[in-house]
Amino acid sequence: MSVEITESSVASALAAALEAIAQATDSSSLKAARSSFLGENSPLAALNASLKDVPNDQKASAGKLVGQARAEANQAYAQAEERIVVAEQNAKLDAERVDITAAPSHFRAGGRHPLMLLQEEFCDAFVGMGWEIAEGPELESEWYNFDALNFDEDHPARAMQDTFFVEPVDAHLVLRTHTSPVQLRAMLERELPIYVLAPGRVYRTDELDATHTPVFTQIEGLAIDKGLTMAHLRGTLEHAARLMFGDDARIRLRPNYFPFTEPSAELDVWHPTFVGGARWIEWGGCGMVNANVLRSAGIDPEVYTGFAFGMGVERTLMFRNQVQDMHDMVEGDIRFSQQFGMVV
Ligand code: PHE
Repeated sequence: MSVEITESSVASALAAALEAIAQATDSSSLKAARSSFLGENSPLAALNASLKDVPNDQKASAGKLVGQARAEANQAYAQAEERIVVAEQNAKLDAERVDITAAPSHFRAGGRHPLMLLQEEFCDAFVGMGWEIAEGPELESEWYNFDALNFDEDHPARAMQDTFFVEPVDAHLVLRTHTSPVQLRAMLERELPIYVLAPGRVYRTDELDATHTPVFTQIEGLAIDKGLTMAHLRGTLEHAARLMFGDDARIRLRPNYFPFTEPSAELDVWHPTFVGGARWIEWGGCGMVNANVLRSAGIDPEVYTGFAFGMGVERTLMFRNQVQDMHDMVEGDIRFSQQFGMVV
């Protein structure tokens, strides 16, 4: 349908378009204005389409009139679009503003206990070398804690460790005094060869003071295989010491006695940055698994040999992280744990 192209018809079509564009406040009203006043069915489009019916001698001036109006409307549209995009972006930024000076919320992330983190780090490293994690109960039978570990009925070694005996006495239960009973459990439960770590809590009748606690943590290691020697034990312990204290750590073994290992040794570790200077500290006990212990687990000591070690985790934390007082480790004050974050 042809419309008449006059100055006033073009002007009013343009005015309507400019008005709608000016009134648009967001991208959806602008889009609506565009389709009504610039789109295919808009008055300006109709004027444009009617150009083909204009007599040739007026075509140039009519074309110019319509063209200028459309250009003006398009330009107004483009400016409005820019204005609205910027306004909407600013509104969004305003809505998402973060006040970095605001007081923090009092959410506390907490912290896992450093004794746990340290055990996990130690175990992870050994698991990475193919070792497995073994477990045993904290309420242990006397047989596993002493007898099967070659402590004689009235052997003075039984008194070496101050034991919590649990009533009734004829149940022969104790709070395990060390993690070594897990050695036996592992040998009885697992296929050979065996490479296991057994971290866990142990109990002795010590008073809590700066360097003692009646409940503490050990990490036991046990390897049973063909051809294992003390050299393997030493190499493993050296690796463990470097893992815990750093590459400068050194170890030494001093002859000692444990009923369940033969030969047995005290394990000392040296590090240049220990509290009190470069010095040797006692870290744990170790040795070659006593043939009697292998026999109580039904393993032929002529075919298999093994080594075992046991380290104190609290001592490790004391010397590794300069924790001076055992109280801090056992009292459960979250402020102590939080200092270590998630990494020891
Ligand atoms: N169980 C011993 C202790 O608690 C340490 C140890 C473990 C010694 C393994 C030798 C072998 O003192």
